[in-house]
Amino acid sequence: MRDPNPKAVLLRDYTPPAFLIDSVDLDVDVREKQATIRSRLAVRRNPAAKDAAQPLVLDGRHLELVSVAIDGRALAPGEYTVDEDHLRIAEAPAAFTLEAVVRFDPWANTRLEGFYASKDGLFTQCEAQGFRCITYFIDRPDVMSRYTVTLHAGRERFPHLLANGNQVAKGEEDGERHWAKWEDPFPKPSYLFAMVAAKLDLLEEGFVTRSGRKALLQVYVEPGKIDQAGFAMHALKKAMRWDEAVFGLELDLERFMIVAVGDFNMGAMENKGLNIFNTKYILARPDTATDYDYYGIDKVVAHEYFHNWTGNRVTCRDWFQLTLKEGLTVFRDQEYSADEYSRAVARIQDVRDLRAYQFPEDAGPMAHPVRPDSYVEINNFYTATVYEKGAEVIRMIYTLLGREPFRKGMDLYFERHDGQAVTCDDFTQAMQDASGVDLSGLRRWYSRAGTPRVTARGVYDEAAQAFTLTVGQSLGQGGEPLHIPLAVGLVGPDGVDIPLRLEGDAAASGTTRVLDLREAEQQFRFVEVTARPVPSLLRGFSAPVVLDGGLTDADLTHLMTHDSDPFNRWEAGQVLATRIILAGVEALKAGKPMEVPTAYVEAVGRILASASRDPAFAAECLALPDEAILAEQMEVADPDAIHEARRRLKREIAERYRTRFEGAFRHFTVTGPYSPDANAAGRRSLRNASLGYLMAIDDSTARALTFLEYRRAENMTDTMAALECLANSAGAERERALGMFYEKWKDEALVVDKWFRAQATSDLPKTLDRVKSLLAHPAFDLRNPNRARAVLHAFAGTAVHFHAADGEGYRFVAEQVVALDRINPQIASRLARAFDRWKKYDAGRQAHARGALESIRSAEGLSSDVGEVVGRALG
Ligand code: ARG
Ligand code: ZN
Repeated sequence: MRDPNPKAVLLRDYTPPAFLIDSVDLDVDVREKQATIRSRLAVRRNPAAKDAAQPLVLDGRHLELVSVAIDGRALAPGEYTVDEDHLRIAEAPAAFTLEAVVRFDPWANTRLEGFYASKDGLFTQCEAQGFRCITYFIDRPDVMSRYTVTLHAGRERFPHLLANGNQVAKGEEDGERHWAKWEDPFPKPSYLFAMVAAKLDLLEEGFVTRSGRKALLQVYVEPGKIDQAGFAMHALKKAMRWDEAVFGLELDLERFMIVAVGDFNMGAMENKGLNIFNTKYILARPDTATDYDYYGIDKVVAHEYFHNWTGNRVTCRDWFQLTLKEGLTVFRDQEYSADEYSRAVARIQDVRDLRAYQFPEDAGPMAHPVRPDSYVEINNFYTATVYEKGAEVIRMIYTLLGREPFRKGMDLYFERHDGQAVTCDDFTQAMQDASGVDLSGLRRWYSRAGTPRVTARGVYDEAAQAFTLTVGQSLGQGGEPLHIPLAVGLVGPDGVDIPLRLEGDAAASGTTRVLDLREAEQQFRFVEVTARPVPSLLRGFSAPVVLDGGLTDADLTHLMTHDSDPFNRWEAGQVLATRIILAGVEALKAGKPMEVPTAYVEAVGRILASASRDPAFAAECLALPDEAILAEQMEVADPDAIHEARRRLKREIAERYRTRFEGAFRHFTVTGPYSPDANAAGRRSLRNASLGYLMAIDDSTARALTFLEYRRAENMTDTMAALECLANSAGAERERALGMFYEKWKDEALVVDKWFRAQATSDLPKTLDRVKSLLAHPAFDLRNPNRARAVLHAFAGTAVHFHAADGEGYRFVAEQVVALDRINPQIASRLARAFDRWKKYDAGRQAHARGALESIRSAEGLSSDVGEVVGRALG
């Protein structure tokens, strides 16, 4: 038995590995229900190790050890010990060859970690610690080795045999079998190892890098789906050009492969030269994928490609440094998306996600710094904090340094650390050394959990023509203040930005200024301010903080209409809508009518009237804050009242502007062949936002229009927009559309996921009953992560039904966590995270949630993944 209460791993306990492994030679033999792995490792003692007499300890899990030998001599049972997690050899020479033979059944591997079977063959996932499920190894990222891999398998069933690097030999074997040998010229950590033995279709193209190097690009997909691979290939080429142009980074390989697989625990994985992707982030055709799916594919293909430099060429010393590669690579994919689509819209969407996922995480039991200082199960720390807040930290460095110095910092980082496994400090040091900017206060962001609050109050002195901004920060846990870049502008009464001159400046310059907030409280005095301004604070969301700007509704309406910073124009509308909805919540609870101020409704009217200038941006402005984000702003969250107040506001806007929404719906159609570009997608997004408002009225006219749209739609974006509206409506059109949809798409797994999701997230009463019956649907499969997520994680993300006052939502999800944990702990543990914010609810709900959490905790054989999440939630 594995330890039921595994100990936490601590950052401060880091020590260099006792041994290094210079080369790895794997021979992989695939048979019916069995893989046999023979490894030959060149091992030597690490000269940098603390103690030169340590035993050799190799990681290994779920492996059957057949034999082990040192320098060709088989070890006798007394010379080594094996337990659930390790192979230990007490007496090891200074340098030697270790050979081991292990066996396991990839078809029995439902954890989808290590080497496992999916429909079309066998695939790997090694990050963070999957390689130890393939062979015994020192499975940590600061052990970097050169890999050679030979795969043997049946030719018919596994025509493609792939591994990292270059194919150096191949041949036939007895019994309809074949083999292929691969060599990866780059030393790499084990988490970047990958291999595939499968039957797949291949799309390939040549590419010439900026410096003239030729490369072969390949995208492998399920047989018959080659018509859904083109956009991923297109995205890959775009991303490669972008990285050359923006960061001067080129592909370093002769061949770059992407393999799509239908069973995958996360989005995708950046294995050296052999990226493995969830089909969700590869497959797309206009009639099967939405604009948002295309956007996601573009972003994730770019993200994994960008890892080749930020992650692979320079990797992490240990898993506490995960944000070194993830925060930086997310920042890079965000910048790529901003350049390829609309910068303002991309920023708005990134911030909305940060607030919906990262802020609650940072306020709950799983809160951790972007560089955590402890973990039980590293898979639980692939979080919004490490990824998205980590990207915000990089963005703050970028904001403080400026574009050119940031690029110099990146260049220096690669110059110093190419081929190494390093820490977040190494990164910030390179940035500081290249730019001369003091990053000591910024570095503190790496070790502090929680979302800082920034308070700003402005005072205008008419006689002195001066505007004084007093800004404070707090994180409520002591420690030195953070360095917070606060981008501000001053918007005049005429709606025009006032040129900024801080007291002491020689002259006014620019209309946006990044203030360096380094103290707990600071004052900034702007002079030559000729009229009372409205301060536009935290422009572009220049830091991941909660801002209390002290602005009145009138100030916000002014910004909503005039701010030159599009992010803050959007933000002002969000803050106003939040105020209205939260006041509505109080009114509803007191049995009073909910008030919707005319000034706000009129400002919404102005958005609609000027929507054609930037339809995508207008659609963002029309989207009301998510229920999850609203819940975070209440002392005690009331999901039913939030839902009702938000619904009423939407309906009131819809009724007021019905004709305009109908007009926008008719006007913003897109003609010609489908394209997911920013312009076309933006028009569809405004059009579908308008449909959403009309369906907030949910009368027979709106339903008929939506159903007609459902039948007329030629692309999945419009189809899903209509279907999602109907799924939230009790009309007869609902079941008709859902039935037609399933009939048409039942053989397209990613589309069937959409069908499940639309039902699992419906607002209608009885959604839980529907979800329970979906579990019995022949197409439901708990073992497929995408399918499980489409139903269970989707349901657990709903505000109203998961948090139902009778506790049924909690009980149901708890049962599913336990069932899923027996199959796939990583996916189960993600589902358990739905309980994170349970203490934000009323006593009745808390009692139900506690009961549900305790029932999970007491389940037999619980994984350490779920154990850690539930333990922290209850602890
Ligand atoms: N490195 C991958 C990416 O972000 C994700 C790997 C996630 N691994 C995990 N165990 N959750 O591109
Ligand atoms: Zn990544």
